[in-house]
Amino acid sequence: MDNYKDYLKYSKKIYDVYMSMSVLNWDMETHMPKNGNKFRAQQLSTLAKIAYDLSTNDKYGNLLNKLSKDQSLSFDEKRNIFLSNKEYLKKKKYSIDFVERQSLLVSQAFKDWRIAKEKSEFKIFKESLENLIELRKEECELLGYDNHPYDALLDKYEPNLTTKDVDLIFSDVKNQLVPFINKISINNNIDDSFFYQHFDHKKQWDFGIDLLKQMGYDFNSGRQDISAHPFSSHFSPEDARVTTRIDENNLSEMIWSCIHEGGHALYEQGILPENYGTPLGNSISLGIHESQSRLWENHVGRSLPYWKNNFSLLKSYFPKELSDINYELFYDACNNVKSSLIRTNADELTYHLHVLIRYEIEKGLIEDSIQVSDLPSIWNDLYKKYLNIDVPNDSVGVLQDIHWSHGSFGYFPTYTLGSFYAAQFYYQASKEINDLNIKIENGNMKELLNWLRDKIHVHGERYDAKVLCQKITGEELNFRFFMEYAKEKYSNIYKLN
Ligand code: CO
Repeated sequence: MDNYKDYLKYSKKIYDVYMSMSVLNWDMETHMPKNGNKFRAQQLSTLAKIAYDLSTNDKYGNLLNKLSKDQSLSFDEKRNIFLSNKEYLKKKKYSIDFVERQSLLVSQAFKDWRIAKEKSEFKIFKESLENLIELRKEECELLGYDNHPYDALLDKYEPNLTTKDVDLIFSDVKNQLVPFINKISINNNIDDSFFYQHFDHKKQWDFGIDLLKQMGYDFNSGRQDISAHPFSSHFSPEDARVTTRIDENNLSEMIWSCIHEGGHALYEQGILPENYGTPLGNSISLGIHESQSRLWENHVGRSLPYWKNNFSLLKSYFPKELSDINYELFYDACNNVKSSLIRTNADELTYHLHVLIRYEIEKGLIEDSIQVSDLPSIWNDLYKKYLNIDVPNDSVGVLQDIHWSHGSFGYFPTYTLGSFYAAQFYYQASKEINDLNIKIENGNMKELLNWLRDKIHVHGERYDAKVLCQKITGEELNFRFFMEYAKEKYSNIYKLN
């Protein structure tokens, strides 16, 4: 019997269930009528149970165990078995009791959080959050860790990332980025008010589609829809979708969420279909995924050459609204660095201070140095400390993000990681692709996309993030690349020095 073939068949079956759940989730966020909720929740929970049973099946475990010792397998085959086995052993650590308690706590927490946010009263969410923190602490012990319990949570989203790594990254942020942002804020006189006029919905939509096509997004293997919060979702490399949100009174909302989600979807479209249903047909981690979206959003989509090329097209959609604006003014405005309350609206520099705050809080909660009841005041103090901003109420403060209500702890740092990976990858791409800026100025994104495909997308999970970064750039993740990018770009815009 060919064991590896059995493995492939079994693994694909598990993926089929997960991908079917993704379709239902996508539909829930885009087209499902209001009354569809009850049975949809039931359908999803049935599929989740099927996926759990399949992926913790003892026969599957025995097969993986046997194949783990098979030296005749190729490098890629060994890699698939190694990762599938790791996943299997991890899933086996969770008891049915834990999984069921988690699902109940999360649905309660989500309900409480929504009401708390609406009424701007943290105490409505307090008890649920305490229960979730206790559950996550239990999970840390169950999964195990070497140094810090929070390591176990980080590893769920970014394999092998440790608290020590993240501490190091944020100490660079505090020592280098914070003083630089302060320097900018003294010199900031950018006027971005033109973004906040009335911009027709349909024209915005059409412009977004133009941008996605220009990036090389394949509409035969994807589509765009509207949702409350922009996201990307994939069911295979041949069906990787995006959503966007259009605010008729804020042009920037659609443009950069479109490019961002497009970047995520290009990663999924670049994964090899023949690897579907195995780890090699998977993206590496949330951090690497975010590196792809941020690279397109910031390094391409907020660059001068990009707007030198695309501004005239945008102006052809909105000649009246943008009559006094040229591409240089537009470029400055879309790079306005300014402290703000809401993470998702932050510019590409202050964004990381929002993440830093969440990281410090999560770590404190898990190691017991912070109590849930103190969260609103701790949150507000940290916003004063790092962003020099007064938080008017809990709704736009400690309750602004959905993540904790979903029980997601250890997720936020991957956003920052993604930006810093993006800077390092883009630096390397600029070195290896001749005249990349001129190509972008001509609307030619092909070589950049091919470079990303070749270096990152086609590999799936062939390498760990750290190894991949080393292979592509010659070194592990280094904050220096982001800082140098930021200094060069923003010293120019703000005429520093
Ligand atoms: Co993203």
